[in-house]
Amino acid sequence: MEWKTLDDSVVVLTGATSGIGRAAAERFGDLGAEVVLVGRSRDRGVETLAEVRDRGGDGIFVRADLARLDAVRALADEVTERYDEVDVLALNAALSLPDREVVETPGGPVERVFLVNHLAPYLLTHELLGRLESAAPSRVVVTSSRVHRRGELRLDDPTLAEEYDALGAYARSKLANVLFSTELAARLPSDVTALAYHPGFVPGSGLYRETGGAFGLAVRLASRLGVGRSVAESGEDLVYAAGAPELAVESGAYLVGRDPTPPDSRVGNDALRRRLWDESARLVDVEPDWPA
Ligand SMILES: NC(=O)c1ccc[n+]([C@@H]2O[C@H](COP(=O)([O-])OP(=O)(O)OC[C@H]3O[C@@H](n4cnc5c(N)ncnc54)[C@H](OP(=O)(O)O)[C@@H]3O)[C@@H](O)[C@H]2O)c1
Repeated sequence: MEWKTLDDSVVVLTGATSGIGRAAAERFGDLGAEVVLVGRSRDRGVETLAEVRDRGGDGIFVRADLARLDAVRALADEVTERYDEVDVLALNAALSLPDREVVETPGGPVERVFLVNHLAPYLLTHELLGRLESAAPSRVVVTSSRVHRRGELRLDDPTLAEEYDALGAYARSKLANVLFSTELAARLPSDVTALAYHPGFVPGSGLYRETGGAFGLAVRLASRLGVGRSVAESGEDLVYAAGAPELAVESGAYLVGRDPTPPDSRVGNDALRRRLWDESARLVDVEPDWPA
């Protein structure tokens, strides 16, 4: 399969206003891509778009709060109206919350981290699949994390009412990311690749903004001392995952940096992946048997 270069590609990138996503947006700009930058902060979105243009790329900024499923659908509508094809869908936005928050969905209440980090990417992929298929060869890249190994899916407790801790809720959503990308790869035609990737520990991003306690202090110290990876390095890896021709044969892979690596053994459980898929469809109110 001939893989295209990113210079004439349309890239939809969530979480483009900060951290790894912003660094990746700049790199997509260097490569001349057309980038749909998605985030909540208009100021940082506009700034990032200016930087993408300065570097030789182009695109638009779309402000969307991914905790609102109507905003996810409106984002998909805007992309669909504007572009006939989407070559890369980079599902990178995520958050971690110190306290439990519950949000209503059509299928019932859910915990907010799971909604933003997993259900919104699930729905956005569903809505943009036609455009990805039109662009094939094309690619979906989900930014997960190695902490997916610590996650418990807890589908019977969607609001995490029984017990909540910030790391547990985040790890759960990151496990859902890898289960989703693996199941998506199994369902997609072979010329649409789906990958998950772990960017490494990146203390200088905004992810740990609200992290308190000893861990929060350690992260801030790590950032100051240059421990871990820089946003630029991890952003480069995201762009690699989005565009490397050699990854076209690795659909379903989980990358650590650039290396395909076995994910947690639960990701190989077909029944668990299907259960998450069907439950996600129910919560966001789409038919579960997609792609048709
Ligand atoms: N940093 C690490 O050590 C690390 C390690 C493993 C995996 N990751 C993963 O890397 C990805 C990028 O995170 P980061 O570290 O670069 O963090 P970050 O600097 O906090 O960036 C997160 C991005 O997600 C967006 N976002 C958050 N909530 C949103 C919402 N409700 N609606 C729309 N956009 C929302 C933010 O937009 P606004 O700022 O505009 O709100 C921001 O652009 C995440 O998937 C994270 O799980 C990070």
